[in-house]
Amino acid sequence: MSRNTLNLLRPLTNARPTYTRTSPVSISKSVLPRSTLRSEIVRPISGSGLKKRTLHTTIPRQHGEITRPEPGTGIKLTFKDSKGNEIKTIEGNEGDDILSLAHEYDVDLEGACEGSVACSTCHVIIDPENYDKLPEPDDEENDMLDLAFGLEDTSRLGCQVKLTKDLDGMVATLPSATRNMYVDGE
Ligand code: FES
Repeated sequence: MSRNTLNLLRPLTNARPTYTRTSPVSISKSVLPRSTLRSEIVRPISGSGLKKRTLHTTIPRQHGEITRPEPGTGIKLTFKDSKGNEIKTIEGNEGDDILSLAHEYDVDLEGACEGSVACSTCHVIIDPENYDKLPEPDDEENDMLDLAFGLEDTSRLGCQVKLTKDLDGMVATLPSATRNMYVDGE
């Protein structure tokens, strides 16, 4: 008698349960967006069906929309290149940050993380007089500044510096390079 036939004759009460182990969720990294993989993990919890766990994630701070002030009424900000040559002087409003203004006026300041303090590609060097008027950088900003190329005493992250009226005339000099982008060949 074959083994299969013997198995059929075995009383059901003596039958040992068999388990099939399957992955509760099959996630294809090539299909789902990265944010989904990071933020949601679905796991079966014994006796309670599927439970969705959402992990804490930081929502990136977006640099804002810029409304251009009437010429002559805004807060002046001058961008210079790493050699001290003026790129352009623009006018912003109170609360505008340097990175947003740079993008708005086509100044080549990268800002890879779009203001979420997760890179140092918006690094600028502020003129000393205006640097002293700025609020102290917080720990997050200091951590990223530590990674910046060509760090100087008056270095700041452009996405974290917001214009105020007493910063009128501020100068933001771009470094010769950033961690992710080489700028001018020096
Ligand atoms: S844009 Fe990344 S830290 Fe400012």
